[in-house]
Amino acid sequence: MKRARPSAAKDTTRPRVLVLHGPNLNLVGTREPGIYGRETLADIERALGELARELGVALEAFQSNSEGGLVDRIQAARGTADAIVLNAGAYTHTSVAIRDALLATALPVIEVHLSNTYKRESFRHRSLIADIAVGQITGFGANSYLLGLRAAADILARRNQSA
Ligand code: DQA
Repeated sequence: MKRARPSAAKDTTRPRVLVLHGPNLNLVGTREPGIYGRETLADIERALGELARELGVALEAFQSNSEGGLVDRIQAARGTADAIVLNAGAYTHTSVAIRDALLATALPVIEVHLSNTYKRESFRHRSLIADIAVGQITGFGANSYLLGLRAAADILARRNQSA
C-alpha cells in the first residue's frame, strides 16, 4: 500500500515528517487484534493527518511489506523529509539494510511500535534501529504513532529555533 501526498511533500515551509510502516502493518485492525488493536492503518493515518495539521507539520506516509521497498523509500527521504517516524514491524529485529538506509539519510528517526515488544518473545527485544534512533515509543497502540509524530515535530521545532 502506497500513500503519497504530493501536496504535502512539496510544502517547503512546514517541517516534513515521513511515517513508514513495515510488513504486515497493512493488516492492522484485523491482525491479532488482542496485540495490535482494532484500529486500521487507515484509522491511524487519519489520526496522524489530523495531528499533523494541528502541529503544522507536512506529513507523508508509506507502507511496504518488502524490505527493498522500505529501503528505497528511506533513500528517497534524503532531501524530501526532515524526520522519519518508523514502525519497521518484524524488520526491526532483523534488517541491517533498513538500519544502513536510515544512517545514510542522517535524518532524526523515531522508532515506534504498537505493542510493547519487551513484554513479548525474546527475539522482539532486540531492535537494530533503537541505538540509531532519537528514541523509541513502544506499547501504546495507535497512540505510539501520535506520540512519535509529536516527538518528531518537537525535535524539528527546536532545531529551527536554534538555527
Ligand atoms: C510491531 C512489533 C514487531 O515485533 C512485529 O513484528 C510487528 C509489529 C509493533 O508495532 O508492535 O509486525 O512492530
